[in-house]
Amino acid sequence: MGVPLRVPHALAAPAVRRGLNTHVIGAHIVSFRRASSTNDIALILASQGCPEGIVVVADSQTAGRGRFGRRWHAAPGLGLLFSVILRPELAPSVSSTLAFLGALATARAIRELYGLPVSLKWPNDVVLEGKKLGGILAETTGDAGAIRHAVVGVGVNVNMRQRDFPRELRSGATSLALATGKRVARAPLLRRILEELDRRYTLVRKAKSTAPLVEEWRRVAPHTGRIVRVRQKDRIQEGTVAGIDDDGALLLRLPSGTAVRMTSGDVTILR
Ligand code: BTN
Repeated sequence: MGVPLRVPHALAAPAVRRGLNTHVIGAHIVSFRRASSTNDIALILASQGCPEGIVVVADSQTAGRGRFGRRWHAAPGLGLLFSVILRPELAPSVSSTLAFLGALATARAIRELYGLPVSLKWPNDVVLEGKKLGGILAETTGDAGAIRHAVVGVGVNVNMRQRDFPRELRSGATSLALATGKRVARAPLLRRILEELDRRYTLVRKAKSTAPLVEEWRRVAPHTGRIVRVRQKDRIQEGTVAGIDDDGALLLRLPSGTAVRMTSGDVTILR
């Protein structure tokens, strides 16, 4: 499953915990030098009954996953890779808005720490100048009535140079080091993202609803009115974004005038 860190390390639990100001998230931190996938480990821990708030972090992953079963690449020391276990009292119908939680927190932390003009792309991308800086993989388990547990996995490209990305991703990816011109310390970034996650998750728990996340998403990621192309497994559609539904779905108006709801897909903003 993974190799626990035995020597002091930038992302070892004590280094991450130092000065961390959160209520729920980060109460326990499990740190690996090399893991299969922090999402996989967090899902196993959650299924064994581990409490919410546990953070699983790894210096590198051998089977890092993105949406649609894609690989998530990050050589040792270059990426920030972690997953958080949550047990929200929510209906499964709003599961996809938990990706908003990760994306909103990550974008806010990066804007505040480095002053970079990061933006969000529905449903889970953290973007800088049109290139992918980070992504969120939110996975939930439960039954028809309620989510049993959720894992929100976050991957941020931190210290990659162009050549560290797989060739086919180079033109569409960027990193904090490329954007700032400096090597970036990962522990302070992780701490800040955990604090932003904790603040938003506290609101969700109080409201027993992800409405605060959807409202923030509508405010800070104004896709409305943009012409986009949405690529799904079996088709590609273009249209004008009419908004984000309460369950996080993208509302698209097709050139024919028909309104459609998209619950997943890859978006390219055309204009
Ligand atoms: C995407 O953009 O498709 C989502 C990428 C999510 C990657 C992170 S890295 C930490 C966590 N563990 C994984 O296996 N995936 C997520």
